[in-house]
Amino acid sequence: MTQQQALDLVIRGGTVVDGTGAAALAADVGIVGGRIVAVGALRQRAQRVLDARGLVVAPGFIDVHSHDDMALIRGPRLDFKVMQGVTTVVIGSCGSGVAPVTPDYRQHYELFLSSVLGPAADFSWSTTAEFYAALEKAGPSLNVAPLAPHGVLRFAAMGMESRPPSAEQMERMKELLEEALTAGAIGLSTGLIYPPGMFAATEELIELCRVVARHGGIYASHIRNEGSRLLEAVEEAIRIGREAGVPVQISHHKAHGRANWGKVVDSLALIDRARAEGQDVTVDVYPYTAGSTLLAVILAGGEEEGGPEDVMVAAAPRRPEVEGKTLPEIGEMMGLPPLEAGQKLVQEDPSVVAIGFGMAEEDVRRVMAHPAAMIGSDGIPSAGGKPHPRLYGTFPRVLGTYHRREKVLGLEEAIHKMTDLPARKHRLAERGRLAPGYYADVTVFDARSINDLATYQDPRRYPDGIRYVIVNGEVVVEGSRHTGRNAGRVLRAGG
Ligand code: ZN
Ligand code: CU
Repeated sequence: MTQQQALDLVIRGGTVVDGTGAAALAADVGIVGGRIVAVGALRQRAQRVLDARGLVVAPGFIDVHSHDDMALIRGPRLDFKVMQGVTTVVIGSCGSGVAPVTPDYRQHYELFLSSVLGPAADFSWSTTAEFYAALEKAGPSLNVAPLAPHGVLRFAAMGMESRPPSAEQMERMKELLEEALTAGAIGLSTGLIYPPGMFAATEELIELCRVVARHGGIYASHIRNEGSRLLEAVEEAIRIGREAGVPVQISHHKAHGRANWGKVVDSLALIDRARAEGQDVTVDVYPYTAGSTLLAVILAGGEEEGGPEDVMVAAAPRRPEVEGKTLPEIGEMMGLPPLEAGQKLVQEDPSVVAIGFGMAEEDVRRVMAHPAAMIGSDGIPSAGGKPHPRLYGTFPRVLGTYHRREKVLGLEEAIHKMTDLPARKHRLAERGRLAPGYYADVTVFDARSINDLATYQDPRRYPDGIRYVIVNGEVVVEGSRHTGRNAGRVLRAGG
């Protein structure tokens, strides 16, 4: 740019943390036409100036593990993410998603997915390409990078059959995957504890990932086991990556259940070994010791899940009175032993979502501090109830608790895990850094006061300390308020 070129927007006087992990520096950030054009001491005139004195200026955060597929259609402002400083969400996680829509799919969605992805908006699409177009038309406030969800592809090809696909069904799945990748999916996701994804053998996944490899995509997996067979499950994911030639992302990496605490030392060692051999294997993690999934899944886990006092119901649309209560409390209300009360809830409504306090703080820190770890919220945008606070709190919590208070991560390192690292891994070209030529996705926050406020009992609270959020050069959060701008795009692989 020339010295005379006027800027659309300048963020002035802040401490710039550019996302690469490089040391913070005092600089202005100049934006023209949705792109960053200069970082430094800028003297050009600007149409608009944001005062960032005393604040950190960072690339917008990238949530690499979200379930916002349907939430974006229902409410494209996506307040709960934007207000955290998130400027891009990856959707289609854990093998679940909302396209393609085949004849029986709506019913399947109601039964198995609506509790996690939220109530269905009208399905106005059927193919994956049509869904991406519908997303764009909805006008999201942030960018959306979609994964092709294996569970939905498998359902379309063979319903809920718990066996390997026939040759014909395999072909159908590959065709649908090819279609999604051509439409712009950045890779394939699996959820190997959920039906129908759990019915897939390793070989099926390798064969599908060979299609992903041809498109330069990634394989993101909720692996087959996060408890007693964690290491075997990590090995399976690494094997799929090696044999198909695809980069691997292990979702919400953890060791669940007291008996398994500490196992992440060994799982991270497996990952280190694969990386040393030249494989691209990374993980994501959310900053909490509780997980959240279907109550039915937790109850099926049995002993490994710990006691019933470690399980709290998050969303039970037909029995809102049990939301926020533990199984012993619910048992008391229903006059039943705790586990029986849980079983009864699942019989009445298989879609009940619960929170399980099953991880060690030490393990969460270990995973987060690993150089291959990035941040993913795994937030569950259910309509009612008390969703896991990670939905509203993940990114500010990493910065407030794990950077500022606990010093598990340095500031530059924490930002790197939310920006440049995930952008490179997920093929988000020209995103994730504050540098000339990059898209102007920017989050400005107060490093001294940033904090998550969402709790298990009061989870729908926006965080403290996020001042400005800019998406593609447009100001979407200003003075901690959502401006309602729909500046986001669908980030299709390959531009
Ligand atoms: Zn998952
Ligand atoms: Cu998930």
